[in-house]
Amino acid sequence: MHVLVCGGGGYIGSHMLKKLAAGGVELSVLDNFSTGHREAVRWGTLIEGDLLDPASLERAFAGRRFDAVMHFCARSLVGESIAQPYDYYANNVSGTLNLLQAMRAHDVRRLVFSSTAAVFGQPVSERIDEDHPKAPINPYGASKLMVERILADAASAYGLRSVALRYFNAAGASPDGDIGESHQPETHLIPNVLRAALGSGPALKVFGDDYPTPDGTCVRDYVHVDDLAQAHQLALAYLDDNAGAHAFNLGNGHGFSVREVIAAAQAVSGQEIGYTVEPRRPGDPSVLVASSEKARRVLGWSPAYTALEPIIASAWRWHRAQPY
Ligand code: UFG
Repeated sequence: MHVLVCGGGGYIGSHMLKKLAAGGVELSVLDNFSTGHREAVRWGTLIEGDLLDPASLERAFAGRRFDAVMHFCARSLVGESIAQPYDYYANNVSGTLNLLQAMRAHDVRRLVFSSTAAVFGQPVSERIDEDHPKAPINPYGASKLMVERILADAASAYGLRSVALRYFNAAGASPDGDIGESHQPETHLIPNVLRAALGSGPALKVFGDDYPTPDGTCVRDYVHVDDLAQAHQLALAYLDDNAGAHAFNLGNGHGFSVREVIAAAQAVSGQEIGYTVEPRRPGDPSVLVASSEKARRVLGWSPAYTALEPIIASAWRWHRAQPY
């Protein structure tokens, strides 16, 4: 089995490489390192290149026979997508189209695609399952939903088999601490909280404490990055026997507030973590919690991490070892 992993230098992509390599899968990795990290590509053959550059795609596909593609490349910040919509549609939609065309030209018929909870927009139910209305409220979510639509059309027209995995809040790090989450600039809650605990990040800000939630701060469903990687392996196997375009929501089904995350990080790190309450961040829904019943039932997915502290503890081990 030879898999092309696009975006293998990124947070979720690098954890995927590690898991696939452990299973003996042959790996090729395409990354332009615009947001990913060269040092995170520790497994597979690196092809440096960009999905917006057809020559790099030709370099990746020429002379290799891939059984499947896993596609993690994307711009993925909600706020940035509102400010720079063209970049988001170009990278996330046009870049994916280029990849799909290269796959078709080289007769590669299986794809696992990184989608997002942002395809749903403002939730209208407590738990979000796959049938929840899709009404994205920002260009990031819209760009991912457009690709999901393209995948459905590609299944009908060209027989492409695909699974779109809609991540809720990816969190944590490899338990042995060798790879983890690092974005520049960092906007995600858990890395910001842990860097505040280390005294190495900017002062922690909590964006809004007047939401209609038990403690007034936003509630999210944090799912461990290794559990996400596990879901990708199951999705790939699912495509052996299932044609068509499929989608699954991936979360652990438990919501935790921003204040609960800070309290768990204090317990894990043993550090007092101070913060200021700031105005709401534009585009943040108050609650996002997945129903992943379909992934459990159909793929047999069973996330190993359901409590918050072990997720944060894995992230803490990695952050503590960084030369901040
Ligand atoms: N938050 C803070 N302070 C910070 C960072 C975040 O209070 O320094 C809050 C946010 O306002 C939000 C919560 O913590 O309420 C989680 O924020 P993150 O930035 O960690 O994650 P998001 O929920 O915004 O993002 C996730 C995925 C995106 C996806 C989005 C859908 O990472 O890919 O959900 O809304 F698009």
